[in-house]
Amino acid sequence: AHEREAVEHAIAVHALRPGPLIELLHAVQDMLGHIPEAAVPRIADALNLSRAEVHGVISYYPHFRSTPAGRHVLQVCRAEACQSRGADALLAHAGQALGCGSSGHGHGHATSADGAVTLEPVYCLGLCASSPAVMLDGQPHAHVSANGLDALIAQCRQ
Ligand code: FES
Repeated sequence: AHEREAVEHAIAVHALRPGPLIELLHAVQDMLGHIPEAAVPRIADALNLSRAEVHGVISYYPHFRSTPAGRHVLQVCRAEACQSRGADALLAHAGQALGCGSSGHGHGHATSADGAVTLEPVYCLGLCASSPAVMLDGQPHAHVSANGLDALIAQCRQ
């Protein structure tokens, strides 16, 4: 019921604005931490869109997730500066360490089986000069090595 109310609230606030889908999705995710599958038909109806269109936007933006996040969110930057300093390998390493093999294709997050960490690719954290960069629960970390990443993950699992 809480889910439904939150979605209805977001619809009421955002449905009548121009180009409201993105804002509406942000509002739902801010309140619930993710965008429940069950909300998609309702959102599509309210905005006069097809479900496929809503799904398309949710899967296009790495920020949106359709399942709840883990207790911690680890974002690994995949934009240019970080890529040139090994971000892809770092992301693959994180996926392996967490046993949730994220990476490879540009979007999609994955959560470790113990629910401790959701791994999320992002595109520039504003730390390009200190790449590769990651963000753990909103805290930026610069010049992150594989070992450094392991230490961050270990923290999350305590
Ligand atoms: Fe990674 Fe900017 S490219 S922080």
